[in-house]
Amino acid sequence: MRHVLGAKQFTRPEVEALFETSRTFEEKVKGGQVLDRLRGRIMATVFFEPSTRTRLSFEAAMLRLGGQVISTENAAQFSSAIKGETLEDSIRVIGAYADVIVLRHHEEGAAARAAAVSSVPVINAGDGPGEHPTQALLDLYAIYREKGRVDGLRVAMVGDLAYGRTVHSLAYLLSLFRDIHIDFVSPPETPVPDRVLAYLAERGISWSRETDLARVAAQADVLYQTRIQKERFPSMEMYERAYGRYVLDPSLLGRMRADAVILHPLPRAGEIDPAVDADPRAAYFRQAAGGLYVRMALLCQCLEDAGQAYPEGSEALSVPAMGTISIAEGEGTAKAQVKGGTPA
Ligand code: CP
Repeated sequence: MRHVLGAKQFTRPEVEALFETSRTFEEKVKGGQVLDRLRGRIMATVFFEPSTRTRLSFEAAMLRLGGQVISTENAAQFSSAIKGETLEDSIRVIGAYADVIVLRHHEEGAAARAAAVSSVPVINAGDGPGEHPTQALLDLYAIYREKGRVDGLRVAMVGDLAYGRTVHSLAYLLSLFRDIHIDFVSPPETPVPDRVLAYLAERGISWSRETDLARVAAQADVLYQTRIQKERFPSMEMYERAYGRYVLDPSLLGRMRADAVILHPLPRAGEIDPAVDADPRAAYFRQAAGGLYVRMALLCQCLEDAGQAYPEGSEALSVPAMGTISIAEGEGTAKAQVKGGTPA
């Protein structure tokens, strides 16, 4: 896994292994353990679009693993992009400062462009209306944690399915599993793209386009609600036609199965009534919390594949970090030695 660019790059065994590691990290962090698998490593977060969860959970993940973080959180305004620097040039330079780059950008395909010139792994943290693969991984982790399985589930995806990059990535990941059915419920302004449907059809995944949310919600094992993304619409008029069409409120909740799970990538903007939050089926805040552990697992995997992570169970202090200077045993303070190469 050199770069994480899209959900289609993952196999089912890779996803399952990642979730096993995520679960281990979850137990360790909740148990108060201090980890150092990425001690001495640096992650750059380069965000051209706003974020709360993705940036902060990636940064927390790196810190929880003993690594360090450099960040430009409003790169469109405060990086040299404002002076006309290309994304490619910025990435070439940032790769000289950091061991991994987490990039959010407003243009679809930006992460792939960055990866093409990067000397270090690039992780796509959302590329315009394209994909958001790490969000989809944490969405799937939430499904595993809440339902105990993914095979055989009926999943309803609701809201902005056209610009909703998390929807595209999650649909791709769901296609790795058996006996899945996806109901797509959206206003006519934001239909799920044909390219997503074609991919699901190729993989033999059953899906339908629906308009009656009450009927779909009553059958769903998982209801994945999304925000109508005002910032991506070509006109305000079109946005206003789409906004508020499908809202999950207590009356709709009352029609849902007792064992259903409600997810949302967040942030929300009116499409889930806060009165739903107290219901045990409302799992969206647990889902967001789980993102920390999935991103810890992803960072470890990426840097392990690049020969930049300490093996599990190693003590950081007994394994020299790349490029650090240490005093050779028995040589007092007179002679210093540079330890190079990748950690054992
Ligand atoms: N779900 C998600 O990507 O949230 P942020 O935009 O806050 O990162």
